[in-house]
Amino acid sequence: MQLEIINKPQQYSAVLLLTSDIQSIKEQKIVPTSFYAYIEKYISEGKNTCLLLPSEEQLCVVALVLEEKKDGAALVESYRRLASKAFGLLTKEKVADLAIVGDVEAHYLCSFIEGFYLSSYRFEKYKSTSTKEVIARVGVQEGLYESLVPIVHVCEANFVARTLVNEPVCYLTAPQLSQEIQVLSQTHGFTVDILEKQQIEDLKMGGLLAVNKGSEVPPTFNILEWKAEDAKNSQPVVLVGKGVVYDTGGYDLKTGGHMSHMKMDMGGAAAVVGTVCALAKNEVPIHVIGLIPATDNRIGPNGLVSDDVINMYDGTTVEVKNTDAEGRLILADALAYAKKYTPALVIDLATLTGAAMRVTSHYGTAMMGNASKETKAELMSAGENVHERLIEFPFWEEFEDEIKSDVADIKNLGNPAGGASTAGKFLEHFTDYPWIHLDIAGPAFVEKPYHYLTTGGTGVGVRLLYDFLSKGNF
Ligand code: BES
Ligand code: ZN
Ligand code: ZN
Repeated sequence: MQLEIINKPQQYSAVLLLTSDIQSIKEQKIVPTSFYAYIEKYISEGKNTCLLLPSEEQLCVVALVLEEKKDGAALVESYRRLASKAFGLLTKEKVADLAIVGDVEAHYLCSFIEGFYLSSYRFEKYKSTSTKEVIARVGVQEGLYESLVPIVHVCEANFVARTLVNEPVCYLTAPQLSQEIQVLSQTHGFTVDILEKQQIEDLKMGGLLAVNKGSEVPPTFNILEWKAEDAKNSQPVVLVGKGVVYDTGGYDLKTGGHMSHMKMDMGGAAAVVGTVCALAKNEVPIHVIGLIPATDNRIGPNGLVSDDVINMYDGTTVEVKNTDAEGRLILADALAYAKKYTPALVIDLATLTGAAMRVTSHYGTAMMGNASKETKAELMSAGENVHERLIEFPFWEEFEDEIKSDVADIKNLGNPAGGASTAGKFLEHFTDYPWIHLDIAGPAFVEKPYHYLTTGGTGVGVRLLYDFLSKGNF
C-alpha cells in the first residue's frame, strides 16, 4: 500500500471520512445530503462504526468515532480497530485507491491510518493466484503525510517480522534467515556480522550447538548493529531473539498437534530484526545491538537426548532434562555473549513457553527480569501505547531452586507448574546486567484475523520496542 499526498479527494475512487459529528459531515460536503438522516441514526447509537455510502461519483465511507467513554491508550486502539473494520469493508468492495480525510485530532488520524496500514498485510508468496484485494494507493492530507512516514516505516518493519514468522522452515532455515538479515541490512542501513558453524564451534557456544546436533542444517549466530552517528547512549541496548526456525521438540517430540505452527518459534528473532530495521530506517539516534542464535530443533542420529550434559558459552554446565526446552539453551549463549558489550540494558524476546501462552493467550506478553522498576514501567507503558501489552510474571527465588541439578551446575527443566518463571530463571543465570525477558509464545501468532492482525505471524515486539527505544528512557 502506497501513501501519497491528496490533491483532490474527488480524484480517488473512494473517500473515507473519519468523524464524530453530523455538523462536520455537513461542512465537509463529501457525503451526499440524502444520507444525513441515516448517519444520524447511527450517531444516536453511540458506537464506533463504519458506513458504506455508495453515490454516483465515488464510494463514500463514514467512519464514526463515538466511544467517548474510552480515553488514553484504549481510545487510540479503538481508532486502529475502527480502521481495520473500514479496511475490511473497502477491500470487499474491491476499492483500489482511497482518500482518507478526517476532523479528529491529527494524532488520532495517524493511529487510524496506522491501523489501516497494519490491516493491509498479506502473505501470498505460495499462492498460485493472488487475491489482489489490497488497496494500492491511499491519499492523506499534506500536513499529515510527514508525520505518517516514520509510522509507515514501523508498520513495514512489523511486516518484515510477520513474513519471517510466516515463512516455513522448508525455505527459512537458519542460513536462509541470515541471508534475509543480510539483504535487510542493505535496504535499511544497519550492519550485520554472521557467524557460521565453525566460528560458533570456535567460540564454544555449547547451547546453540547442542540444539543443532540433530539437524542437517548448520546453525548461525547473527549480530546486527544500528549505531546512529548522534547516538545518545554510550552503552548499547542489546536485543536478543530466539531463532528456532522450527521446533519439533527434538527427541522429546511434540505430540498431539503441538508441533503445528512451530515455524513461529523464531518470533523473537523476527521481532529483533524488525526493530533494528525500523530504528535504522528512521535513523533513531541510539546504539542498538541485535543478537540472534538460529537453528532448527530436530531429531537426527546424533541428536541431543535427555540426560546429556552440555558446556555452555560461559562455561556453565547444563543437564538436559527435556530437549523441547531448547529455546533457553540457545538464548543462554547469546545472553552470555551480550556481556562483552557492557550493555545499558538487555531485552530478550522468545516464544519460550506454553506456560506463558496459557496465561496471556494472544492478548499480551509475559515479562520478567531484574531491570529497575522504572525501566519495566517504561516498557509497560510502551506496551499500552502500541497495544502490545505486558504483564509481569512472578520471579521469586524459589523458581531458581527448581533448576538445580544433581549432576551439573543447572538443568533446563523445572517443575510442571510455573514453567514460564523457571525458564526465566534459567536465562537469568547467564546475565550480569539490567535485563528484561519477554515471553511472546502467546502473541507471536494468531490462527485467525484479529482486528489489524492477519492470520499467522503478528510481528509482536517491533512496535513495542520501537516505541520504547525511540523515547530513549532506558
Ligand atoms: N517453542 C516452545 C514454546 C511454545 C509453545 C511457543 C507454544 C509457542 C507456542 C518451547 O520450545 C517449548 O517447547 N517449551 C516447552 C518447555 C517445557 C518442555 C519445559 C513447553 O512450554 O511445553
Ligand atoms: Zn521446544
Ligand atoms: Zn521452542
